[in-house]
Amino acid sequence: MKIWHREAIGGNWDKFGKLQYDFLLDKGLKSHHYLLDLGCGSLRGGVLFIPYLEDRHYYGVEKEPRLLEAAQVELKEYKIEKIPLLFHIENFDLSPIDAEFDFMLAQSVLTHLRPNMIELCLSKVVPKLKEDGHFYATFHHMGKTPRKGSFNRHPWRRNEVGRAEYKFEFFEELAEKFGIKITNLGKWGHPASSMLDITK
Ligand SMILES: C[S@@+](CC[C@H](N)C(=O)[O-])C[C@H]1O[C@@H](n2cnc3c(N)ncnc32)[C@H](O)[C@@H]1O
Repeated sequence: MKIWHREAIGGNWDKFGKLQYDFLLDKGLKSHHYLLDLGCGSLRGGVLFIPYLEDRHYYGVEKEPRLLEAAQVELKEYKIEKIPLLFHIENFDLSPIDAEFDFMLAQSVLTHLRPNMIELCLSKVVPKLKEDGHFYATFHHMGKTPRKGSFNRHPWRRNEVGRAEYKFEFFEELAEKFGIKITNLGKWGHPASSMLDITK
């Protein structure tokens, strides 16, 4: 049976949940670290990160209320007792969050955002990154020409497109603008996306 909220964030619930979990552990995520899961959806990664991290060290930010409701269903389904801090936030305004993060993850988020939203995201989110923290974000690498249908509106998620793709030069320009470092780690195990490592 297909569960609506698991499909609504792209499906492959177990596979891509574990992929992001394994990726961050490989990058050095420890239980005492603070993690921001930006665009956490219905907790595809969260159901693994929350039990691993110390209580209240997982922060999830999501703009779609229906997905945050579904997140509560998943917390019960997985019998998770630790408390995640989940925020309904639009436009990346993290001012309600009183924490700085060792790790941030935006898995399959920039892959749906127009350039102005990515710029907004970096301007609001990077200040919450610890000096030695890492913000990992996936993106679709644009080939010689954009794939047909790129940047068409997402069928239901607001202010998103079905598929956004970029040349790495776009991120290099943003890095220069914000005085940060953005490295392209390339393929990371996901069949479609590449991974950025964003640091101060
Ligand atoms: C493809 S889903 C991936 C969800 C989750 N990261 C995962 O791997 O399951 C993209 C998510 O990013 C969220 N998103 C997009 N723009 C956002 C924004 N401006 N603020 C918060 N969440 C956003 C969407 O609502 C959606 O839940």
